[in-house]
Amino acid sequence: MQRIAGILFVFLWAVTAVPAQESVERGAALFPRCEPCHAIGPDPVDRIGPHLNGVVGRPIAGLPDYSYSRTLRTAGDAGLVWDRATLTRYLKNPRHSFPGTSMAFAGMRVRADIDAMVDYLESFDTDGATAPQ
Ligand code: HEC
Repeated sequence: MQRIAGILFVFLWAVTAVPAQESVERGAALFPRCEPCHAIGPDPVDRIGPHLNGVVGRPIAGLPDYSYSRTLRTAGDAGLVWDRATLTRYLKNPRHSFPGTSMAFAGMRVRADIDAMVDYLESFDTDGATAPQ
């Protein structure tokens, strides 16, 4: 019985972990689109845009030292958080989802690219470290 449970565990680990890893790598390959404006990882400077360490789960407009647009500050004050749903809408069409945002980025058209980008962003904690995959 234990042996079957062990095999099942390894099987489930393989089917769930591998796509996540691939998705994170796909997101990493897309990050150069964001990099002129956003830092992520060990050197979290704010560029034109705020750094993105730990952004998944962070309140919208949540960095105290960055000067956000009114639209993002209002969303943050209302208690909205960057979860998968809000990020997906924002990355698809920033100006449509948050009119008045200062993020001058056209948006990502391919849904799988957006999913991969969120997976990539999620792989960094607030200190910019990546969880072991
Ligand atoms: C041309 C510069 C530019 C590019 C390219 C860009 N951004 Fe932004 N981003 C900004 C600016 C400026 C803001 C602040 C927006 C505001 O205050 O309305 C922002 C805000 C954000 C936020 C909200 C952060 C917070 O603390 O609330 C996220 C998430 C984000 N960008 C993700 C991305 C991702 C992912 C990409 C690449 C797919 C990207 N951005 C591309 C400039 C950019």
